[in-house]
Amino acid sequence: MAFTISMRQTFLSLLVILILVVQSEGGGIAIYWGQNGNEGTLAETCASGNYHIVNLAFLSTFGGGRTPMINLAGHCDPYSNACVGLSADIKACQAKGIKVILSIGGGVVSYSLDSSGDARQVATYLWNNFLGGHSSTRPLGDAVLDGIDFDIEGGSSEHWDELARYLSRYSNRGKKVFLTAAPQCPFPDQWVGGALKTGLFDYVWVQFYNNPPCQYTSGELSNLENSWKQWTSSIHSTKTFIGLPAAPDAAGSGFIPVNNLTSQVLPAIKGSTKYGGVMLWSKYYDDETGYSASIKSYV
Ligand SMILES: *[C@@H]1O[C@H](CO)[C@@H](O)[C@H](O)[C@H]1NC(C)=O
Repeated sequence: MAFTISMRQTFLSLLVILILVVQSEGGGIAIYWGQNGNEGTLAETCASGNYHIVNLAFLSTFGGGRTPMINLAGHCDPYSNACVGLSADIKACQAKGIKVILSIGGGVVSYSLDSSGDARQVATYLWNNFLGGHSSTRPLGDAVLDGIDFDIEGGSSEHWDELARYLSRYSNRGKKVFLTAAPQCPFPDQWVGGALKTGLFDYVWVQFYNNPPCQYTSGELSNLENSWKQWTSSIHSTKTFIGLPAAPDAAGSGFIPVNNLTSQVLPAIKGSTKYGGVMLWSKYYDDETGYSASIKSYV
């Protein structure tokens, strides 16, 4: 009898755990932070409780013989090594289970990979300066970031696949190196389409904005839905996120009001096993609208 009761208790505990696991398999919110000094600190961003992943934007200069430089707008001056102070914030985020990822690239294109050797050099640089390697000149100090985000929006489409391969190999050295990317919604992406074909990316946040042929406009869902299906069926990533502006002025077009997102768009895409959640550009605009707080229980 006692045995049966304990079996029942075990069963009930397992059931509770199972329910918790299933519930936690909803989506998360990824946010870009770093391109506006008036968006709060990184620690405040993580303390908000609204985000699962923070992309630090950007390592904007690298490759082709350039001296790599981060650009975090008004947050800190990398030229006087003042961004090393972010290490404490990065660790505080990670202690909350939030992944902090370095986004390389961005809209201002002073980057390229000129050869296979260049891809290898940039991978080595990223490993030593932001990931698990060692360097006396780590721009963000000793915190070990969780991965690298490819936000490549110009230049050349070549060698990004090689960079992804080199970076993914570092996952063998202990801590996993997450690979993520922010392609535009027209498929395949002009710049990182080749890299995405490697199937090495964990999270792909597709920018469903500034691209009318594949975004949600005026209550019309089918363009976005068709594009979402193409992305989730064609790319071997672990999870796909819908990338959106967090405010109307955060992008040229593609902002989706909260009600439209929660009543029309999310129900159309959440059924996909690839669905990972919502990516927002950016923390600054999210502060303006409170978008993440409004949508988080639906994501
Ligand atoms: C939101 O949904 C309503 C109702 O379908 C639609 O009329 C409106 O155009 C949508 N807003 C946007 C920005 O798409």
